[in-house]
Amino acid sequence: MIRFSHVFLKFDGRQVLKDISMEVPHGTTQVILGGSGCGKTTTLRLILGLLRPESGSIVVNGQEIVGMAERQMASIRAQMAMVFQGAALFDSLTVRENVGYRLWEEGALDDDTIEQRVVKSLCFVGLEDTVNKMPAELSGGMKKRVAIARALACKPKIILYDEPTAGLDPINTHLVSDLVRQLHTEEQVTQVVVTHDLETAYRVADSLIMIHRGEKIFDGSVDALQASDDPRIRTFLRPEEVLAEPGCFPHKDGGIRVVPPMPEKAEQASA
Ligand SMILES: Nc1ncnc2c1ncn2[C@@H]1O[C@H](COP(=O)(O)OP(=O)(O)OP(=O)(O)O)[C@@H](O)[C@H]1O
Ligand SMILES: [Mg+2]
Repeated sequence: MIRFSHVFLKFDGRQVLKDISMEVPHGTTQVILGGSGCGKTTTLRLILGLLRPESGSIVVNGQEIVGMAERQMASIRAQMAMVFQGAALFDSLTVRENVGYRLWEEGALDDDTIEQRVVKSLCFVGLEDTVNKMPAELSGGMKKRVAIARALACKPKIILYDEPTAGLDPINTHLVSDLVRQLHTEEQVTQVVVTHDLETAYRVADSLIMIHRGEKIFDGSVDALQASDDPRIRTFLRPEEVLAEPGCFPHKDGGIRVVPPMPEKAEQASA
């Protein structure tokens, strides 16, 4: 379970998150939608305790992490795994070493158990035959799936994904979003998926929030999002439809700018 209550965050005096509240119940998948730079990755870094908010409360698995000592934070972090924007595999390590890395680092399990975990995680993503390969030998989609296997190997209670399908072709996008769904239905992992890919969002979300310039402008179901008449949401979901209306242009803040007809033209039209 993850709960944000009235979280504010500033970078260099600039307000980046404003009054963000959300609740991700155990075993559910929350999608965070929003344009570039709106604060999505920042939200994930707050959950991992890598950033501290200026004010507000963040509860992870029943424990308040704001103000928590680093030592105690490490035990909370051990229950979480992150799939980074761009997979972030170690290029000089094999797939086996990448997937088992954290388990070897932790030193709590013997080599045979780690090997079993590595193979099982790779089987889950359909890549057990790549165990001896180097990341450079894999396609972008395979790298993303290895990154998911690496997250799974630690048996986390929470998985955070930063743009898991960015840059993938439609088939790999489908494969990756299917894995997220499967982890939800088969393993009851609590998941937070940051994306601006709507197809992925609709496939994996139990519920969504949308952030616009650091503010939460939506919290609810896929159906409610699609039915929203907020111009900022409509432009994000269906830019082609909104911008096709006469006199509508994209606004620099997102949303739309409606330009009234020129006065002369209006006069001519009425003449
Ligand atoms: N460490 C930092 N120091 C200063 N500003 C930062 C820092 N990290 C992020 N920012 C700023 O905070 C805002 C939100 O950044 P964030 O990375 O959360 O955006 P995002 O929604 O993940 O965008 P994208 O979709 O492009 O990945 C941006 O304006 C960014 O420039
Ligand atoms: Mg980001």
